[in-house]
Amino acid sequence: MTTAPYAFTDRHIGPGDDDVRAMLDRIGVASLDELIDQAVPKSIRLERALNLPAPASEAQALDELSTTMSRNIVMKSFIGAGYHGVQVPPVIQRNLFENPAWYTAYTPYQAEISQGRLEMLFNFQTLVAELTGLPVASASLLDEATAAAEAVGIAIRHHRDKRNKIALAGVPLPQTLDVLHTRAEPLDIEINSDGIDDTTAALIVSWPDANGVYGDHKAAIEKAKSVDALVIFVCDPLSLTITSSPASLGADIAVGSMQRFGVPMGFGGPHAAYCAVSEKLTRLMPGRLVGQSVDAHGRPGFRLALQTREQHIRRDKATSNICTAQALLANMAAAYAVWHGPAGLQGIASQIHALANGLAEGLSAAGVAVLGTSRFDTVTVEVKGKAQAIASEAEKGNRLLRVIDADHVSIAFDETSTEADLEAIAALFGAKAKASATSTMPGKPRGREFLTQAVFHENRSETDMMRYLRMLADKDLALDRAMIPLGSCTMKLNAAAEMMPVSWPNVANLHPFAPKAHSLGIRDMIAELEGWLAEITGFDAVTMQPNAGSQGEYAGLLAIRGYHKSRGEEHRNICLIPSSAHGTNPASAAMAGMSVVVVRCTDDGNIDINDLKAKAEKHSANLAALMFTYPSTHGVFEEGAKEICTIVHEHGGQVYFDGANLNALVGLARPGDIGADVCHMNLHKTFCIPHGGGGPGVGPIGVKAHLVPHLPGHVSEGSNRAVSAAPFGSASILPITWMYIRMMGPELKKATEIAILSANYLVARLGNHYSVLYRGRGGRVAHECILDTRILKDRSGITVDDIAKRLIDYGFHAPTMSFPVAGTLMIEPTESEPKAEVDRLCAALIAIADEATKVEKGEWPAHDNPLVNAPHTTVEVLAGEWTHPYSRMEAAFPAGEFSSMVKYWPPVSRIDNVAGDRNLVCSCPPMSDYSEAAE
Ligand SMILES: Cc1ncc(COP(=O)(O)O)c(C=O)c1O
Repeated sequence: MTTAPYAFTDRHIGPGDDDVRAMLDRIGVASLDELIDQAVPKSIRLERALNLPAPASEAQALDELSTTMSRNIVMKSFIGAGYHGVQVPPVIQRNLFENPAWYTAYTPYQAEISQGRLEMLFNFQTLVAELTGLPVASASLLDEATAAAEAVGIAIRHHRDKRNKIALAGVPLPQTLDVLHTRAEPLDIEINSDGIDDTTAALIVSWPDANGVYGDHKAAIEKAKSVDALVIFVCDPLSLTITSSPASLGADIAVGSMQRFGVPMGFGGPHAAYCAVSEKLTRLMPGRLVGQSVDAHGRPGFRLALQTREQHIRRDKATSNICTAQALLANMAAAYAVWHGPAGLQGIASQIHALANGLAEGLSAAGVAVLGTSRFDTVTVEVKGKAQAIASEAEKGNRLLRVIDADHVSIAFDETSTEADLEAIAALFGAKAKASATSTMPGKPRGREFLTQAVFHENRSETDMMRYLRMLADKDLALDRAMIPLGSCTMKLNAAAEMMPVSWPNVANLHPFAPKAHSLGIRDMIAELEGWLAEITGFDAVTMQPNAGSQGEYAGLLAIRGYHKSRGEEHRNICLIPSSAHGTNPASAAMAGMSVVVVRCTDDGNIDINDLKAKAEKHSANLAALMFTYPSTHGVFEEGAKEICTIVHEHGGQVYFDGANLNALVGLARPGDIGADVCHMNLHKTFCIPHGGGGPGVGPIGVKAHLVPHLPGHVSEGSNRAVSAAPFGSASILPITWMYIRMMGPELKKATEIAILSANYLVARLGNHYSVLYRGRGGRVAHECILDTRILKDRSGITVDDIAKRLIDYGFHAPTMSFPVAGTLMIEPTESEPKAEVDRLCAALIAIADEATKVEKGEWPAHDNPLVNAPHTTVEVLAGEWTHPYSRMEAAFPAGEFSSMVKYWPPVSRIDNVAGDRNLVCSCPPMSDYSEAAE
């Protein structure tokens, strides 16, 4: 047998042995062990190797996973219920979905290096606005069920918390109802209250309902309007291409899933949900919103609007806790609409509708009862005790129907359905399909008056589409070009072998509600992964359901709430949160019905233990939880972690551990051993799921045994209290993490050590040029560090923004800006970045400090220097006239690397933030904007 010369660990970890030696020398320690002993408090150290299988090679891991997944049985799904078979256009599959230029990008906070994905997200918003008829749409929520719950949140806040009833018109899908109930309970919101009155905050119209039927809800909508309640439509976006918009029917808000716009079912996710609102509700809208703005030269450019609100998630006044959402999948959905255009979408929708009507008419003709008279794609059939038998018969022909109850079975058609399917399904009921079915859609047929924007008409040929996707990707700076040193985000390698299983048909095409016997492989993989994550974090059980870190926080706090309640202590509702916490923490606490009490941090960035003690004492009788991030968002290992947990426990509280920074802990220490009761893990940080330009994410939680009974369940698994639409959340991307852990095994510890080494190396190189705001014992940081840039501002007027934008000229994505401290940069190099790339970043930051000195000394005027003018575009640098006091070369190639480096050119210069916030209404900019810009 031959052995590969390099293990996967060598592929994942950037610095080689010689680099590690050089980095240790620079830091001034003899070994990695010595550094880790200095940085990580002994009191929390795990003194044994992780109990994980020995590392497998890429080929071996793929082989094992493929064997496991071969136990999945993929039949053609007619289950529907929010999840539909799709044909992912190959041009999108290859050039977007499986393209690192798209999937390794970060959330587009730095607008100048994100114009490509911002444009595609703007397309998404335009698409949603056009389909719903509502003026403002956000760039994606997590799934349909949570989007419906977010819409309820908008309605409650719109009524300033003075109304608490939600009425239903038509029965929502079971998982949507499950999530609505979960989200309503802690906030005392009543769902399905009898009738509509002046305490009703909103009416939810399921359009169509869970049986696929469009009911007549005119009277309910009118009643809702008469008492000023908001009207929320939950609709299938594909159906909207051939019928009246929800806005024209009275909707104030519309939500739904964009899954069937070319995103595979993937056993439940990830997919993007949409949310559109009327103008008066814009500022209450959850998630991100792309706005059109102008750059420093007046050219059009996109940016995330209302960004300050989004980044801070407004703490306890949060609009929602959504941070990482589903950008990559929203981009796929938008690309699907760009590819098919309105006529193509209508063609697909009409074909599906004809199949459904063909079945319904055929069944009726044969005397078989079907529910309702108006439908889009789903036919629900009354079969008196025979539902299961008919579904079993359908399975023999490789088709899955939905058994609603003993007497009802439903059939949902999708773009993969054929005439042959229709015939075979009709035959199951002893009927023949009718070929010439007429439309049974409600409302008026849509003409061609929607999606008139050029982008939805210009990309019919694959050459055009391929180039469009390439053009957008080229505008952006993703991990496939350069390091993305974003603190608290862990932008590490997303290895190709980890990504491959996501596209396997026996993963991608599984319906989340397929019979359990059909998903044994993926369930086994999930169970194994849960076990590994439990071992890594020191917990008794793990659930994969939360589909982002924020949702993990929420699920964890609900578990804590459930635990207190089970002990007759439901009055415990105070949640202590350190001032340095990420905005999702207080937002999640507020959603879980808790009141936030802020705990101070000391000047050196640690939790102020005295303040914690005082607040825990003061709120002892009502203390529910402490949420704390470790190592802290200040980038240091606090010494008092165990003491912190003990204080909270002594007062009857539970410890919620925000695991966003697990990349500093894996293999070295475990939250469960430190004293946490529950912890979320951001698999899209530490465990290699790519960031996708702002999602997908996965936020599983680990819990101690006493919290296990309070974990989320799911209606499709025979329980309830779901926090996500699908029982295993974003199941199809879990193989990424499985592959990572399988290929690293106990060597995960080395990854952590190198991540800490890299951050400390950075501090050693940059410490003389910037002050490092917080350090732990012996002057060491954890896996990230915060550089204070305020001194440059004091001396030269150069702001943290100027530095971030100037880094673009050097070919870098800026570090995390002004979080958790204003005027600072938080840098996290990760273990995957080679030493040469970390050195390049250090050199750039040192050169920028020198440039600021030139401004300070008056060599360059404060209003005209390469920092305030950054970033520089080709148009400016090549312009005939050059009036600046620095050269074109200094502008564009500040590192002097022009001979060897492929230069990243930003497509726009600095974007005007204020203008972006003024332009929130969606509709694609006319093409003339671009041609003017190019002139
Ligand atoms: C410390 C911390 N906690 C929680 C979160 C929320 O995670 P997500 O964005 O997956 O919802 C983040 C995200 O960046 C974070 O940095």
